[in-house]
Amino acid sequence: KKRVVSGVQPTGALHLGNYLGAIRNWVSLQDTYETFFFIVDLHAVTLPYETKDLSKATKDTAAIYLACGVDISKGDENVGVALLTYPVLMAADILLYQSDFVPVGDDQKQHLELTRQLAERVNNLYGGRKWKKMGGRGGSIFKIPEPLIPPTGARVMSLTDGLSKMSKSAPSDQSRINLLDPKDVIANKIKRCKTDSFTWLEFDNPDRPECNNLLCIYQLVSGKTKEEVAQECQNMSWGTFKPLVTDALVAHLQPIQARYEEIMSEPSYLDGVLAEGAAKATDIADSTLNNVYQAMGFLRR
Ligand code: TYM
Repeated sequence: KKRVVSGVQPTGALHLGNYLGAIRNWVSLQDTYETFFFIVDLHAVTLPYETKDLSKATKDTAAIYLACGVDISKGDENVGVALLTYPVLMAADILLYQSDFVPVGDDQKQHLELTRQLAERVNNLYGGRKWKKMGGRGGSIFKIPEPLIPPTGARVMSLTDGLSKMSKSAPSDQSRINLLDPKDVIANKIKRCKTDSFTWLEFDNPDRPECNNLLCIYQLVSGKTKEEVAQECQNMSWGTFKPLVTDALVAHLQPIQARYEEIMSEPSYLDGVLAEGAAKATDIADSTLNNVYQAMGFLRR
């Protein structure tokens, strides 16, 4: 089975971009591939953070994964790479677990490209015959991973500016839909979101980034095709469309929120899932790390 690896930082609340760009697509890969989905807690410490909040944020994120239908594997604490810069840390996450595919949003593309280059460089410098001479099996040390970026949803835009990406770190909470936002908050954010003065709706008009973004969101949460949405909404005013998106969003998120509450009410279940995933991931990481040590000629631990 091919392997899939991805993760989200446990910083702040997870939002619709994280969900549509990444988490939702993980769920659809689970049946076909061996999957490892991490909460990348080491990444959260590359910026100043509250030490006392980190483990709660990590568990909250894990519960959101589960609530979205993800089977978790968590296992990045075993790597002592806090000194490395962020993209290299991400490469380490991916390469350690020998992933074939990495389902992520558009903003992670360059990081994946760097990851592939690092892997190729290590393979060329230390793999193949050289590794065999060191007593190894030869061949590649790292698998070269491929990004999986969804056709729609790879870049969900801010509700207050259709030209910038929806982000956890944007100062205004009005700019994003958080996965745990209650119904009235969602309704209010959609009511106040940025629109334009056109009297119809359309995809792909570069002068109407907000319109395209909201139609894409509606398409994804309603499960309709782009054609169906284009047809359904072309003659709609913003006033008609906004309640429609709101209802579709609420209907999509409500079961996830209910499941999240359920999961948070049984902490031992969550702890068990995390421990099991960590054990499995650590096995693979150890084996990769041993290969790297061997191929590079380090004295074995
Ligand atoms: P992070 O935590 O910023 O985001 C998690 C995932 O959500 C996607 N995403 C979006 N997708 C669509 N529209 C948006 N507005 C949006 N905002 C975020 C991201 O592309 C990502 O897939 N470096 C990563 C975490 C990471 C990782 C890894 C991912 C660390 N190690 C190994 C994959 C494999 C990050 O900061 O994502």
